[in-house]
Amino acid sequence: MENRGSFGSKLGIILASAGSAVGLGNVWRFPTEVGMNGGAAFILIYIACVMLMGIPLMTAEFIVGRHTHKNPVDAYRTLAPKTGWVFQGIMGVFAAWFILSYYSVVAGWTLKYLVSAVADQVTTMTDSAAYFTEFTQNAWMPVVAMAAVLLMSHWVIVRGVQGGIEKYSKMMMPMLLLIIAVLVVCSFAMPGSDTGLRFLLKPDFTKINGDVLLSAMGQAFFSLSVGMGCLCTYASYFTDDAKLMKTAGSVALIDTSVAVMSGFIIFPAVFSVADVAPDAGPGLVFITLPTVFQTAFAHAPLIGWLFAVMFYTLLLLAALTSMMSLHEPVTSFLIERFAMKRRTATSVVTFSCIALGTLCAMSFGPLADVRWLFGMTFFDFFDFVSAKIIMPLGGFLLSIFVGWYLPKDLVVKEITNNHALHFPRWLFVGFFFLIRWVAPMAIVAIFINELVS
Ligand code: PHE
Repeated sequence: MENRGSFGSKLGIILASAGSAVGLGNVWRFPTEVGMNGGAAFILIYIACVMLMGIPLMTAEFIVGRHTHKNPVDAYRTLAPKTGWVFQGIMGVFAAWFILSYYSVVAGWTLKYLVSAVADQVTTMTDSAAYFTEFTQNAWMPVVAMAAVLLMSHWVIVRGVQGGIEKYSKMMMPMLLLIIAVLVVCSFAMPGSDTGLRFLLKPDFTKINGDVLLSAMGQAFFSLSVGMGCLCTYASYFTDDAKLMKTAGSVALIDTSVAVMSGFIIFPAVFSVADVAPDAGPGLVFITLPTVFQTAFAHAPLIGWLFAVMFYTLLLLAALTSMMSLHEPVTSFLIERFAMKRRTATSVVTFSCIALGTLCAMSFGPLADVRWLFGMTFFDFFDFVSAKIIMPLGGFLLSIFVGWYLPKDLVVKEITNNHALHFPRWLFVGFFFLIRWVAPMAIVAIFINELVS
């Protein structure tokens, strides 16, 4: 069997994990959710969810991966031999594969928009909604774009853990953070941006209801990539001196900052253009923003061009680092279970995802009329099964596994690096309380709510 490899440095560990977390969920989904759920109050609830559930669950997933140094399936098999828990690992690998197939479709859209932005089409298009529909309904373009981003992720994953994932995360994440910072400043500088800032910063608690609460939780899980095989697989490459709780805290901090900053980029810009609504939904970054770029920079087209190019570069970088973390669990599973070479395993994942992704990519065009369960297209079906069923279920089982099934001293030993680190007692009490009670109960609530609606 090939040597598993491991991350070479703590910075590499944090940037790779943050790369998994920071993705389309931050730049595309978060602002959309904020827009639809009333602004600042949603952000506060979101932050509470990240702290009370996200960080404990991420730590739990790190424990499973780092303790075993194995792919998710073998990790659960090792920790709970001859039990049904191996199902959790299988589900994690399966979910990663499934999510990768449709996530790449949206990542492909960002690639297409980046190319269009460079070619100066984004800032000159006359009807952005028609442009978007025309592209997504085209028979082959979305497929080509999806395959192209999958091949980019393939390119990194064949290079392995240190020479691939770590090296490229260390290049892409700083670039991403720099672009975000530049765009925030530009967005603030736009006339009329203060309305957007007020929307983001002034909480309106009358908007808070059960639905908003559950959306915030769902968004937190998705954005932090918890509950599936991804972080567990990355943690299996962590060194023994990596501090699990601190890493989870840093990743959550980076992830949340990027999400909030994306809001800071998008809303001041949106509000500085009078008749664009902030609650445009998922079309926000592909339909609303091109209009914003055009109108806001009507007198300085070159700056508009630059802004658009930087924005879609940001979106693509974010998507790519998350795709890498979805690619790796399946690849490591194939390498370790079927004794495949990394190159072969990576190719199996890439090409099977291109095949599945083609179904999703065509869901807006040639396959729009092929409907599954409850009239869903392939794309909606993949999205539904992974984000609404497998992710909450995975998170729930993870909290039960680490909170109740694993021996408490194994968990404590893993968190303290075999008692080398000293934490105050309240931290453990708090951790176990959150992972045993708060997280599973909250997830059940999300789940029931999703099913009812
Ligand atoms: N967290 C990623 C994002 O915000 C999505 C993701 C989910 C990645 C699950 C890996 C696993 O876009």
